[in-house]
Amino acid sequence: MPDFGVYLHWPFCQAKCPYCDFNSHVAATIDQGGWKRAYLAEIARVSALTPDRIVTSVFFGGGTPSLMDPDLVAAIVDGIRRHWRTANDVEITLEANPTSVEAGRFRAYRDGGVNRVSMGIQALNDADLKRLGRLHSVAEARAAFDIARRTFNRVSFDLIYARQDQTLAAWRTELAEALTMAADHLSLYQLTVEDGTAFGDRLAQGGLRGLPDEDLGADLFALTQDMTDAAGLPAYEVSNHARPGAESRHNLTYWRGGDYAGIGPGAHGRLTLNGTRHATVAPKAPAAWLSAVETGELHDAPQPLSSSEVEEERLMMGLRLSDGIDLPSPGPIRNRVSAMVKLGMMVADGTRMAVTPQGRPLLNAILRELLA
Ligand SMILES: C[S@@+](CC[C@H](N)C(=O)[O-])C[C@H]1O[C@@H](n2cnc3c(N)ncnc32)[C@H](O)[C@@H]1O
Ligand code: SF4
Repeated sequence: MPDFGVYLHWPFCQAKCPYCDFNSHVAATIDQGGWKRAYLAEIARVSALTPDRIVTSVFFGGGTPSLMDPDLVAAIVDGIRRHWRTANDVEITLEANPTSVEAGRFRAYRDGGVNRVSMGIQALNDADLKRLGRLHSVAEARAAFDIARRTFNRVSFDLIYARQDQTLAAWRTELAEALTMAADHLSLYQLTVEDGTAFGDRLAQGGLRGLPDEDLGADLFALTQDMTDAAGLPAYEVSNHARPGAESRHNLTYWRGGDYAGIGPGAHGRLTLNGTRHATVAPKAPAAWLSAVETGELHDAPQPLSSSEVEEERLMMGLRLSDGIDLPSPGPIRNRVSAMVKLGMMVADGTRMAVTPQGRPLLNAILRELLA
C-alpha cells in the first residue's frame, strides 16, 4: 500500500511575519469549538471518498498550529483514527512557533498523539529575528527547542538564510551553531521575497537593502550543502536535511507523488479515485471555509488531472529530491533529460534520474527546460 498523508491547515498566527506568503491571518478571537466541528466534518467527508487508504502521516501546518488548543489537536487525531485506518508507525507532525507559551503545550500535544514537532526558529541572532518580524528571541527559541527535544523523539527546526546583510562568514557561524543543536532533521530555506507581502512592498519601494546578489546566494547555498553533508544531515530535498532514515514521511509523500487529503482553509489535496488522480482545493479565507463546511456547501468536487498534468507534477515535485525519480517514458521530455545529463545538470541511469548538486541551485530553470 503506498503512503497516504492527511494535511490539516490552521490559518491563524499571533502576528503576520513581513516575509510570509502562507495562508495565515491574525484574528482577535477564535472559536476553537466551531473549528473542531468543521475539521471533524471534513475528515468524515474526505475519508468517505478514500475509505481503503491507510494513513501513514498527518501534518498540522499553518499558520501557527501551536496556537491550537491541545484538545482540538487530540480530537482531530482521534477523528482521523476513527475514520481511516492508520499505520502503526504513523508520523504526526505539528508546526510550532518557539515561544514559552507554545512549549508549555508540548506535553499535551504529545498526549494527544503528536509525535514530531517542526519549529520555526528562523534565525539564531536576535537582530535578524527582529528584522524578520519574529516575536521570539534566540534564548526563548533555544529553551522551547530543549523542551521539544525532551518531549518528542523527532524534532526539526526551520531557519531562513540569505537574509539582509548576511555574510558568508556570519552564516557559517550560525549554521555551525544550528548543527550542534539539530536532532535529526533541519529545514534551511533561502529567503524569498514574495509579491503581496510586507517585504515585497518594501522591495518594490526601493527598501529592503542588502539582500544577497545571485553569486552570494549561490555561495550561501553551496556552503549550506557542504556543512550539512559534513555533519551527517545531507539534503534529501532542496531545502530539507536529515540523517538517513529521519526524513519527513509526510513531505516525502508529496515529493514522491503520493496521495494526501487536504483539510482546512486553502488546503490542497491529491486523491486517486477510481484509478485517476484528482486535485482538491478548499476555499482560502478562514471565514469562507468555516461557513462553507458549516452549511454543507463545500462542494469542491475533486478535479481529475490529465496524464500530462500528472507527469508535470511528478517532475516538479520529484526532481526536488536528491534521490530523484523514475525516468519518464521515451519521448521529448526524456530527450531533454539526456541533454541535461550532457550539461552535468542531471544524472540518469536506465531507470532513474536526478538533478546533480551543480544543477540543484538551477532547479527552476531545469524544470522550465524539461517542461517547455
Ligand atoms: C508555514 S511556515 C510556518 C511555521 C510557523 N508558523 C513559523 O513561522 O514558525 C513554514 C516555514 O516556511 C519558511 N518560510 C516562510 N516564508 C518564507 C519565505 N518568504 N522565505 C523563506 N522561507 C520562508 C519558514 O522557515 C517557516 O518556518
Ligand atoms: S512565518 Fe509562520 S508565524 Fe509568521 S506569519 Fe507565516 S505562518 Fe505565521
